[in-house]
Amino acid sequence: MKEVRASILSADFSQLGMEVRRLAQAGVDGFHLDVMDGQFVPNLSMGPSIVSAVRRTTELPLDVHLMMYDPFRYIETFAEAGADSIVFHVEATEDIEDTLKYIRKCNRKAGLAVSPETSPELLRPFLSLCDYVVVMAVSPGFGGQSFLPDTLDNVEVLRKLIEGKNIPIIVDGGITPSTARECALRGASGFVVGNFLFEKGCVSSNVGERVERIRGGNSP
Ligand code: DX5
Ligand code: ZN
Repeated sequence: MKEVRASILSADFSQLGMEVRRLAQAGVDGFHLDVMDGQFVPNLSMGPSIVSAVRRTTELPLDVHLMMYDPFRYIETFAEAGADSIVFHVEATEDIEDTLKYIRKCNRKAGLAVSPETSPELLRPFLSLCDYVVVMAVSPGFGGQSFLPDTLDNVEVLRKLIEGKNIPIIVDGGITPSTARECALRGASGFVVGNFLFEKGCVSSNVGERVERIRGGNSP
């Protein structure tokens, strides 16, 4: 069974608590919160107060995706806000090892993300410090983009790199039942899903069915 982490980036933030509860009832395994700094990516999104608001709404795991330079500075802030896992970009800092170690020191799971244009080989020296890896299947910064098929090769390269290690590969961006299926065939064990779970600006009315379609990945 593949893991489904719901990205709240496309949620109706005027009713965030309700949106989170509906996603939880639909059977998602956890939530994915995208933090954007307007520098590493061109967009701005949420900060620690949103993470703590979601924390007060659900007991499911919260995965914080830091799309910012020098993520070390904010590890403690997001750990205290309620993150269970924190992932940052291999492209975003020189201090990869220290940042991964610090996330673990804060008793949170540590993840390393790789953007579509970056060689996943760059993750190799750090895999022993990673609890999971995130393969971006879109350019980081916006929800609702189309899946980039070339990133399937990145999933496969990472699957080979982690052979024999218990490190889940999570794919983030452009996930639908068909792209999830492609990713699963190449070695993905879980997905971040945003846009596909939403419709008309809020959680879709048949979200439970949509979550199951992602897990199964059989129908288009
Ligand atoms: C993109 C974010 C993703 C995004 C995924 O920068 O990292 O987590 O929310 O959303 P969809 O499924 O809409 O591509
Ligand atoms: Zn993300």
